[in-house]
Amino acid sequence: MGPEDLVVRRARLDELDAVIDVAAAALGWPAGEPHDALFRWKHLHNAFGVSPMWVAEASDGRLAGFRAFLRWELRRSDGTTLRAVRAVDTATHPDFQRQGVFSRLTSAAVAEMEAEGVDLVFNTPNDQSRPGYLKLGWAEAGRLPVAIRPASPAALLRILRARVPAAKWSLPSAVGEDAASALADAGAVTQVLASQPSPHGLATAWTAEALAWRYRFAPLHYRVWAPEGMAAGFVVCRVRARGSATECSVTHVLAPDADVRRVRTLLRGLAGAVDADYLLTIGHRDLRAGLLPLPGQGPRLTTRRLGQEPPVSVRGWDLHLGDIELF
Ligand SMILES: CC(C)(COP(=O)(O)OP(=O)(O)OC[C@H]1O[C@@H](n2cnc3c(N)ncnc32)[C@H](O)[C@@H]1OP(=O)(O)O)[C@@H](O)C(=O)NCCC(=O)NCCS
Repeated sequence: MGPEDLVVRRARLDELDAVIDVAAAALGWPAGEPHDALFRWKHLHNAFGVSPMWVAEASDGRLAGFRAFLRWELRRSDGTTLRAVRAVDTATHPDFQRQGVFSRLTSAAVAEMEAEGVDLVFNTPNDQSRPGYLKLGWAEAGRLPVAIRPASPAALLRILRARVPAAKWSLPSAVGEDAASALADAGAVTQVLASQPSPHGLATAWTAEALAWRYRFAPLHYRVWAPEGMAAGFVVCRVRARGSATECSVTHVLAPDADVRRVRTLLRGLAGAVDADYLLTIGHRDLRAGLLPLPGQGPRLTTRRLGQEPPVSVRGWDLHLGDIELF
């Protein structure tokens, strides 16, 4: 059966199980891991909206591939917002790969999103899908800057040797408190968010509601470090393995007014309390808070223009680990 026999169309909500089966087959999701629930959390419960999805259907009714776009809202430094989508989940069933399924799905999705008035697309694609995106008009913006805080010189060596991706799933951790309960304090979270200075580039338009969604998926064991209460600033993190090292991935650092001394105190406290070899984060601001840059390591951001031209370089973005990991 050739790709010309495939019909590309919007997915219906009632065929999510079939979509997840294609993803599982293409990505080799091991049974017993909660990939299915993670997919539903990400695409159905997102505070920025339900994800539009497209499928390629063969004439016998089988799904050859799917393409999802996660809805996202961005804020510019002047306070105005942009409607974005993130090209996060796509898979072509192994029986149909290298026949243009991804390209047809992605082109159809891009045309519809542009017609709907979405401003831009961004993502951090893997090595398998990046060439396909670049062929469809995506541009490379560079690597997002990674910074670490090693617990000791021995830990630094372990990090430098562990040149492998971090595990997707977390290790349980007792540091601080459970993120879902801590972030339920919407009043304090809103207050801290409102005190943040303007972003220095395009940033996620986080709200208390969006943060509560972002960190509530229980199997990921996100934790919140807020030793003096949420209103005094907090860090969100999770612990995971990276090769033989144990990493504390710091996804959000929110001190009132983004005070650098407060950020440093929060990170020092977390580093002392968490059972990990090092803290790792992404973002320019954190580099000033006593973390060491780890050059050449960050995920590669790619973008595509729809209604608006995205910044050409990562320097025009203000993204942190919590904006990027998992997506
Ligand atoms: C990545 C993936 C979606 C591509 O789907 P596909 O339908 O086979 O892609 P297409 O046939 O439309 O290929 C488009 C272009 O992408 C690139 N590409 C596709 N598969 C590739 C591969 N395995 N290695 C290198 N480049 C690849 C090529 O440039 C290709 O163009 P060409 O065939 O003219 O050279 C598919 O391989 C897949 O499902 N992989 C596993 C899941 C995954 O990694 N998803 C992406 C992250 S969520």
